[in-house]
Amino acid sequence: MTIKPTKVQGVKGMNDLLPDESALQELFEDIVRDVLRSYGYRLIRTPIVEPTGLFIRGLGEVTDIVEKEMYSFTDSLNGDRLTLRPEGTAGTVRSAIEHNWLYNAPQRVWTMGAMFRHERPQKGRYRQFHQVSVEAMGFEGPDVEAEQIIMLARLWQRLDLLDTTLQINSIGDASERTVYRARLIEYFEHHLEIINADEETKRRLYTNPLRLLDSKNPAMQTVINAAPKLIDCLGEKSLAHFEQFKNSLDAAHIAYTINPRLVRGMDYYNRTVFEWVTTALGGELTIAGGGRYDGLFEQLGGKSTPACGFALGIERVILVWQHSLLARGINQPDGLFTPLVYLVHAGIGTLPVATHLAETLRDASIPCIMNAGSGSFKSQLKRANDSGVAYTLIIGETELAAGQVAIKTMATGQQHTVMLQDIASLLLYLGVAPNKNL
Ligand code: HAM
Repeated sequence: MTIKPTKVQGVKGMNDLLPDESALQELFEDIVRDVLRSYGYRLIRTPIVEPTGLFIRGLGEVTDIVEKEMYSFTDSLNGDRLTLRPEGTAGTVRSAIEHNWLYNAPQRVWTMGAMFRHERPQKGRYRQFHQVSVEAMGFEGPDVEAEQIIMLARLWQRLDLLDTTLQINSIGDASERTVYRARLIEYFEHHLEIINADEETKRRLYTNPLRLLDSKNPAMQTVINAAPKLIDCLGEKSLAHFEQFKNSLDAAHIAYTINPRLVRGMDYYNRTVFEWVTTALGGELTIAGGGRYDGLFEQLGGKSTPACGFALGIERVILVWQHSLLARGINQPDGLFTPLVYLVHAGIGTLPVATHLAETLRDASIPCIMNAGSGSFKSQLKRANDSGVAYTLIIGETELAAGQVAIKTMATGQQHTVMLQDIASLLLYLGVAPNKNL
């Protein structure tokens, strides 16, 4: 049987990172790594696929993610119920419990990678997206949650992001939320005419009433605004925690607004919750969110362990970053990787010398694209030009015979020649100090 050739399209809401976009992405990742390291966070990686039960237990059965956004499937080879991770925290906690890596000290860890949620795709919202997911485990706080926010503020500053604001709230502990939940249900029961008009809201009233506060339905806003506030149900300890948290932010001159309606989308949170929001792209877009989750370890069968964390949406932050660069008239941010050198040569006769030169440059940590697939000098020079390099090196038959290499500075078009043997001069010409290995 022959299979008819057909063009296959990617999955809706799942995007490719294209070569022209990747330099900015890599620079972003470098900056993120640098910032995380400067606060002592260490990298971990967990699988993209986890047992479905991990997310049901961890995130909560009555959450949007678990109810309708997970990519879950049965492994047809052994019947296991599996899910593509919709977020990183549950997997990280699973790993900490399974490998007992908190046995003698708290840990600051982070991971970066693809997450999957079957949402309605739009700008800044995808079915496969990427997060930097950051967790401080074994810390009671609130200094450590303030530190995470300060770290994010530093990241926004490094990226020079426009219009980011911080919203914070405390959602108290489980017992305080139980009291609040009852008050909230009672309150909404007095507004059934509004509640009943919205199927989703009606369903949520008794299953997860706190999520009603998140509703974007315009008809509900007045009722929501007048609803009892969770913060008024907090006990002494939760209030003190929140006060100290705010004091730590004040001490670091981090501006914030308290949003009593901020409850977050997963059930594992307690006390501090926060989101960084931007209006740079028009409507409100959350670029990062997180909070404390002191009960999650126990929920997943581990020892009681206080913890807090956050995740930022990489695509969203990069969108805002691009917008901010454009608004400042910056075409290319500093530090964007471009190869320094393109090496043009005459073909088979010059191949050994050209290969040797290219490898020597790489020994000196100079990124060098060597022409592949032959081509006339004209077409090779065009490729060099299109690649965005600063210098083109040319070894033609004449240069080969003279033991030379020609150097063209792309910005000025000026050309010089250097003896092929004289690598030190060549490097100096390329603006690189010769290193001792050469
Ligand atoms: P989250 O608020 O669900 O939290 O996601 C964090 C960030 O991921 C969001 O603020 C947003 O920037 C990005 N994001 C979420 N969904 C999408 C999507 N469909 N498309 C593009 N970006 C998206 C968490 O995931 C928690 N695990 C954070 C956390 C860590 N809490 C404690 N530790």
